[in-house]
Amino acid sequence: MKYINKKLTIEKIEIENIARKFNTPAYCYSYKKLRDNIKNFKSSFKSFSPLICFSLKSNTNLNLIREIKKFGLGADVVSMGELMMALKAGINPNKIVFSGVGKTTSEIDFAINKNIFLINAESKSEIIEIDRIAKLKKKQVQIGIRLNPNTDAKTLNQISTGKKENKFGVNDKTFNELVKFCINSKYINLKCLSVHIGSQILDHKPYEKMLKIISKIIKKINYNFEFIDLGGGMGISYKNNSKKLNYKKYDIAIKKFLKNHRCKIIFEPGRSIVGNTGFLISRVIYIKNNAGKKFIILDAAMNDLIRPALYGATHNILPSSKISKRSKKIYEFVGPICETTDKFLTIKNFQDLKEKDLVVLCDVGAYGMSLSSNYNLRPKPVELLIKGSKIKILKKRQKHKDLM
Ligand code: LLP
Repeated sequence: MKYINKKLTIEKIEIENIARKFNTPAYCYSYKKLRDNIKNFKSSFKSFSPLICFSLKSNTNLNLIREIKKFGLGADVVSMGELMMALKAGINPNKIVFSGVGKTTSEIDFAINKNIFLINAESKSEIIEIDRIAKLKKKQVQIGIRLNPNTDAKTLNQISTGKKENKFGVNDKTFNELVKFCINSKYINLKCLSVHIGSQILDHKPYEKMLKIISKIIKKINYNFEFIDLGGGMGISYKNNSKKLNYKKYDIAIKKFLKNHRCKIIFEPGRSIVGNTGFLISRVIYIKNNAGKKFIILDAAMNDLIRPALYGATHNILPSSKISKRSKKIYEFVGPICETTDKFLTIKNFQDLKEKDLVVLCDVGAYGMSLSSNYNLRPKPVELLIKGSKIKILKKRQKHKDLM
């Protein structure tokens, strides 16, 4: 996305044209960014060609997943709905991993029927349940066990998953016991050790630490895991010039690990694949002055993009047309929802805005639409894919009648 003749443009299409044609709020994804992200991800780890399973929770749009599938990616799913969506998008069951601490009997049953690649189990009770269902079906099931490596991912507390106080995975002692249980089961084929220490990770050191811990555990229990699933979590930069994850150093750490352990690596990236591909176009409804600041009331709200309200996350905001005049007042960009937390960003020195102007919220491709809701009975926005000078509707805007 860049300004061409002062008009904000995604690939070859001006934001103003998209808004005129499809109305606002509108989610747009850049195909070029998506393709570049996947290419970069693959080339960062090309020496050991990992199985890359796109984490569906970051974006569950069927048509977008279809595009991702074309690059050969598999899927990481966490519910029956996501598993059904991955299959509907045509992802090979042989490339689907199923994570999550609370898989129900019917979800396990469905996953086994669909012959997916791995069920990554997260507790003793879950493994006993998988064993029971597999036995009933007289079928061998491939599983992974998720280890909680007690590693601080140095990210937001709310999206940290690898510390011992978190609900995810099992500790090393339980891990040991569960490996023994699996060895003795006729119906479980233990293939994988899995971990996922958190999301939006920008420092490679927690990954290095996690690899050292896994290495130690594998050596101690002396079991040959065919696969090590390192999860996702690779962070992106939401603010200009902010820190970036050093993929080279993460790659070096994995290669070092692979020297001592012969196995194939699985990744479950979400944000790093789709995060910066997405933009939310929104129109200014009203502008009002209060307490020395200007409230810019947008037609997008926390139901469309909850990350700022939920995590205090920052999404940059850009005007669709550039002008040089700056406002002396502080701008507070808010939505129309009846909650004080329905607020996107406070900005000083933004350019002068008028009612009906268009703005764009950046980097909303991951955990944007997938976390959206119908709060205040607001229909969900349209989702569009921009490919050069073409626009494809990925999903239509909801209508009020859909909600009645
Ligand atoms: N694998 C597992 C087991 C996960 O729990 C997650 C994310 C991923 C992979 C993908 O992580 P990623 O590569 O996208 O960081 N709603 C939050 C993020 C929650 C992440 C949950 N788990 C946000 O808006 O930042």
